[in-house]
Amino acid sequence: MTYQIPKGLFDILPYGVDQEWKLIHYWHFVESVIHDIVKDYGYKELRTPIFERTELFHHGMGQTTDVVSKEMYTFFDRAQRSMSLRPEGTAALMRAFIEHKLNTLGEHHKFYYCGPMFRYERPQSGRYRQHHQFGVEAVGDPSPYLDAEVIDLLLQFYDRLGIVDLSIRINSLGTPYSRSRYAEALKKYLHSSFQQLSKESQERFSKNPLRILDSKDPHDQLLLKKAPSLLDYLEDSEKHHFDVLCRLLTELNISFTIDPLLVRGFDYYDSTVFEVISHQLGAQNAIGGGGRYNHLLESFHGPHLPGIGFATGLERVIQTMISQGISVKDQTSPWICFIALEEQAFHSCFFWAMQLRHKKISSEVIEAKKIQKGLQKANHLQARYAAILGEEEMRNNTIILKDLLQREQQALPMASFLKTLEKLWTEQ
Ligand code: HAM
Repeated sequence: MTYQIPKGLFDILPYGVDQEWKLIHYWHFVESVIHDIVKDYGYKELRTPIFERTELFHHGMGQTTDVVSKEMYTFFDRAQRSMSLRPEGTAALMRAFIEHKLNTLGEHHKFYYCGPMFRYERPQSGRYRQHHQFGVEAVGDPSPYLDAEVIDLLLQFYDRLGIVDLSIRINSLGTPYSRSRYAEALKKYLHSSFQQLSKESQERFSKNPLRILDSKDPHDQLLLKKAPSLLDYLEDSEKHHFDVLCRLLTELNISFTIDPLLVRGFDYYDSTVFEVISHQLGAQNAIGGGGRYNHLLESFHGPHLPGIGFATGLERVIQTMISQGISVKDQTSPWICFIALEEQAFHSCFFWAMQLRHKKISSEVIEAKKIQKGLQKANHLQARYAAILGEEEMRNNTIILKDLLQREQQALPMASFLKTLEKLWTEQ
């Protein structure tokens, strides 16, 4: 029997991939940008486990949401407790925040995370059963300045990767009170067209009417065109919050669209919500999104503190980079590649490479019968230099150093060879 990876999953390899976005050096590059950018904005990493008690997600994200009701990887552990692989990061991070009483250690808190999430969705391009998210969550600050900061951080992240041509949509879901008033208005508006709604929207009508706004059904979308706008139901303070945010984004030179139909997929959201669309991605075009969750912590019996965050899917980020022609160099290439043309030469090359490695200079040793073959391999490894040692060089106590970039070569005395290399390394 041959074993194959389960459907909807993928391996990330150093080479030999069927699609470029699965090359590990893209992931390393994106991860290094993440760990850099969060420092500039003052976010600290918080890691939670891959699985949690199932109730956490039921309660945090909402029982009726698609992710919770249809897409969770849920299992019973050996003590028959229901556990689920995390489908997202926010609920677990809030659990950790409350459990460790982090609210007692300061007023404002800013965290980030980066790791795998699991959703049992129908796999397709850009949609996987294990995907990876970079996300941030900021707790304790109700100010629209924080909303602007979080959105700016997300867009700066894309910018630092070289990604262009993204659209950002924002909306406000108001408070639970304004939302329930709006839900009534929406139901009233849709009441007479109930039979024409898709089956899914009919189900949402009584359970969670706002989710109808998220329907992808073209007929529903048509009906929703003249639906009342959430923004008209905001209370004054929420309206003010949203207006200030829009002004701040404009001052930050961020172009955005206000989309009164944007509701996002989880029940914990209120006030500001936003989503970023990548035009290169096809059907699964949401590259990132987030929003405020001002009542999530208290709903977990935690402190009454507001929160806001985003998450962006790294698969979609890297796929967008590649489709926009942004290439990333494999930084794991050896700096120097020794080419040993015979057995005795291999022994010397092995020890030189070891000495260089001990000095943190990346080196590789290749055994080859012919120089050309050895150089081919060194080029394939994208080495900067090749050091060639054959019978003749051994006899003359020399070694040939070839600059694979400039295509120049010189014979160096063996005695001072390592010193010369170290000098070259520090001068580069
Ligand atoms: P989300 O919109 O469900 O939000 O997911 C965030 C991002 O993860 C999406 O924009 C998308 O890029 C990526 N993503 C989601 N599902 C998949 C999938 N099956 N395959 C590939 N990529 C996927 C959240 O998860 C919220 N926790 C974000 C948040 C943080 N809100 C506040 N704080």
